Amino acid sequence: MKTLTPQFKQQLSEFAPSQNSPFFVYDLDALQQHIASLQNDQIKLWFAVKANPLSRVIQTLDQEGMNFDVASLGELEQVLAQGVSPERILNTGPAKSKSQIKHFLERGVNTYVVESINQLALLNQLASEVDFTPQVLLRVQLRFDGDASNPLGGNNLTPFGLGIAEWSQLTLNHYRAIDVVGLHIFQWGNMLDPQQLISLWQQMVPPLVSLAQQLDFELKVLDLGGGLGIPYARGENSLDWSMLVTALTEIKQQANVNELWLELGRFAVGEYGHYLTPVVDRKTSYQQQMLVLEGGINHLLRPAITDQPFPVQLLRTSAEPAQSFHIHGPLCTSLDKLGVLDLPQDVTVDDVLIFSQCGAYGFTEAMPFFLCHALPSEVVYQAGKFEVVRPAQPASSYLF
Ligand SMILES: Cc1ncc(COP(=O)(O)O)c(C=O)c1O
Repeated sequence: MKTLTPQFKQQLSEFAPSQNSPFFVYDLDALQQHIASLQNDQIKLWFAVKANPLSRVIQTLDQEGMNFDVASLGELEQVLAQGVSPERILNTGPAKSKSQIKHFLERGVNTYVVESINQLALLNQLASEVDFTPQVLLRVQLRFDGDASNPLGGNNLTPFGLGIAEWSQLTLNHYRAIDVVGLHIFQWGNMLDPQQLISLWQQMVPPLVSLAQQLDFELKVLDLGGGLGIPYARGENSLDWSMLVTALTEIKQQANVNELWLELGRFAVGEYGHYLTPVVDRKTSYQQQMLVLEGGINHLLRPAITDQPFPVQLLRTSAEPAQSFHIHGPLCTSLDKLGVLDLPQDVTVDDVLIFSQCGAYGFTEAMPFFLCHALPSEVVYQAGKFEVVRPAQPASSYLF
């Protein structure tokens, strides 16, 4: 897990009072270095924009040669607004309406992951009205041995793509306005065990190669989606990227494809964001120590979905021994809990806490409207300076 350097923490403690309310901060210098270290000549990397659509994050990734996987009209326009050309944009997602596909085609997007027969027919029909032939990957759901429990569905039935049996019914000759070049598969999220991840990837190859043969198209592209994890708890290890690249290079040969793609979300940006929020109250109830924070799952939803906390520390320095605190946000639901975590025992009202590993699935995944609290600000740190990209906004900015 990345630790905050004492220097960065010091700079943060000088900057934080200027915000005086919860905020996210993204370390773009470190993010840029990380993305540069991921680039290699074997795997084409796409950034799953849903993980963090902030303009400056997209610009940083763009500078390092990332391509962009967008799953909505909003994500598409946000990426285009940063000057990314449509050839570097891929469209995934199970809900592609006719008007959305039409808009994407009009904007020049020519790569689509198709998730149903209806989507394929619609894209084919609309593609016949433009002067290019979109390339298409069919999204496949497989069944694997082992535990199925995973936010991305694992072995469970999900709306993401179709099973082999359903895709096999297809006659590709009927879809002449599109070019089916590959297959896409992605069923597991936040994987931290490299052997398990590699083994899942390896198991995918034979059924996918055989589906392409059955459908009689040349499998040029294999897209293995995202799912690469980052550690959230002490003791969890980070994935070894070079080990994954070696395994993926073999998989690429085994599948005999020209291109192997990954769409990285969490692994690309997760470790480069932090969330800071003041403590509003401290109390003891039934002998348990409790903190109530200004921001909770209204800004940072993941702990409520996964029951897994983000790592936390106190912004100021304290030499007091640590003790365990139940940490809650401001909403009127017991779901608004950021975890039971250790902090110095002198933590008090108006102290600021820093939650780390919050660069992915933070601001835009939260439920900010419940109870009409303010939206948090978003700040970037670049070339040694903090800059507020999105100022905090009161509830009056979104209430009508
Ligand atoms: C199609 C697709 N690709 C990539 C990702 C990114 O996943 P991760 O953040 O696990 O890398 C997602 C996340 O939901 C997704 O839906």
